[in-house]
Amino acid sequence: MYILGISAFYHDSAAALLKDGVIVAAAQEERFTRIKHDPDFPINAINYCLSAANITPAELDYIGFYEKPFVKFERILDSHLAAFPKSYISFLMATPLWLKEKLWIPSLISKKLNYEGEVLMIEHHLSHAGSSFLVSPFKESAILTIDGVGEWSTAAYGVGKENKIELLQEMRFPHSLGLLYSAFTYYLGFKVNSAEYKVMGLAPYGEPVFYDLIMKELVDLKDDGSFKLNMQYFSYDYGLKMTSSRFDKLFSSPRRAPESEIKKIHQDVASSLQKVTEEIVLGMANHLYKETGLKNLCLAGGVALNCLANSRILKETQFKKLFIQPGSSDAGGAVGVAAYIYYTLLNNQRNYVWKNAYLGPEYSADQIRDFLHQGKIPHREYDRQELLKVTARLLAEQNIIGWFQGRMEFGPRSLGNRSILADPRKAENKDKVNQKVKYRESFRPFAPSVIWEKSKDYFEIDRESPFMLLTFKVKSKEIPAVTHVDGTSRLQTVKREENELFYDLLSEFYSLTGCPALLNTSFNLRGEPIVCNPEEAYLSFMRSGMDYLILGNFVLDKKEMTPLREEFSYEKLFAQD
Ligand SMILES: [Fe+2]
Repeated sequence: MYILGISAFYHDSAAALLKDGVIVAAAQEERFTRIKHDPDFPINAINYCLSAANITPAELDYIGFYEKPFVKFERILDSHLAAFPKSYISFLMATPLWLKEKLWIPSLISKKLNYEGEVLMIEHHLSHAGSSFLVSPFKESAILTIDGVGEWSTAAYGVGKENKIELLQEMRFPHSLGLLYSAFTYYLGFKVNSAEYKVMGLAPYGEPVFYDLIMKELVDLKDDGSFKLNMQYFSYDYGLKMTSSRFDKLFSSPRRAPESEIKKIHQDVASSLQKVTEEIVLGMANHLYKETGLKNLCLAGGVALNCLANSRILKETQFKKLFIQPGSSDAGGAVGVAAYIYYTLLNNQRNYVWKNAYLGPEYSADQIRDFLHQGKIPHREYDRQELLKVTARLLAEQNIIGWFQGRMEFGPRSLGNRSILADPRKAENKDKVNQKVKYRESFRPFAPSVIWEKSKDYFEIDRESPFMLLTFKVKSKEIPAVTHVDGTSRLQTVKREENELFYDLLSEFYSLTGCPALLNTSFNLRGEPIVCNPEEAYLSFMRSGMDYLILGNFVLDKKEMTPLREEFSYEKLFAQD
């Protein structure tokens, strides 16, 4: 039985295909259109999923959409009417697309895919919950979903048992932890719904000196972890901006202009917000534990990408085990709705645990060879064993390497198939990769991938972290390029059964250098989505300071390349992130 899940029209549109409850393909639309966080109908991602399974839309048993558009539109109408006339411009901008497309999802899907079967729509937070619990290793678990907003809900908690989910309590718009985080992201001069992770990266540089102010003025936190925001400081409920002028006055500083200098106050605001976020998440998790008494917790929603908050849940609450899937923001809703239809609505037994993120397109050796030959691109081809040896040596010689292998990752993290790799032992590699390769801010940290069996030697780690969603204290002084300013790392533990080639590369690097870790960052330039195909990998390689590109078993040396005939400016190519 095939079920296609779709998430679309907010940010990070995606499609996922389940066969008998098992995810066989999943991808975000941005990877195909090259528009970061593309919110459009994910026709390319859908076509990819169908072609990966070699089926047509007529062979789909169900299609699921990850939220209920009419309920969402009701919320948008309600909040704009309540704020009229201040909401007038925002209302005029939002409405036409809703009336033309977004409200008519089933007919839109039927038309675009020439599909005559049933389209089921599931509530946004139920899709989030399904995307975590129903594909988790747990038969029974508490569930917490926290995001910007779905229809009305901004957070929900409940319980999952076997193939059923019951959501017990919710928080409603405009009171939202995700939107609070986004409002501060906006105030700090970064792009909303895109650069929240930059704020998280900035936080350890500052002091939480505004924590008390935020808790006093902006957030009214209740005992059960829910809260109310003081909406006088925000304008996202009716306007095109996230914060009001009162917000600037509160911090005695105007909004930071994008790309301008980052000052102490910005670091302190980021630090304060991060602390507030962690305290709220801990409050919610503690309440949920009290209500359910369960030891397992499934997290989902955009806020579940906040690895610092996730790690504090494990350290400071009674929950013993945590499951978060790799695309836990809205992209993951595509998996969630399909899983909910298969397991919950159709009452099928649970039979699948989501263990790795390699669910996207892959390219054969012949396809890569054809691309290289057509472009007359110089290269060397190696067998597997030689390739691993050569790559490990190049890394140990301090080269920055684009590593393109197998199926593309689902979710925002590169986990060893579309990765830029470097030696973590040299501190200067952090700046080199930030400035010469990714063209991004120097404060941005990098994460390591580490051989699972060796991870305890380098980190204070007590569990696997396959999706880079937890942070751990770094024990070793050997890997400064991946040790954040607060002494932690957001690491990926790599097990051989989940990614043989990447594991073997780490092992080869380990036998050569004694270090079982590599700096691993996503294969993209600033503002660009992660590369999907060999041509995109080649272009990013040529437009940046990467020294070598490894496409499958083919090795490209920058010194042998003819420069691209283009005036490259990443600002022109990609919108600021
Ligand atoms: Fe969401």
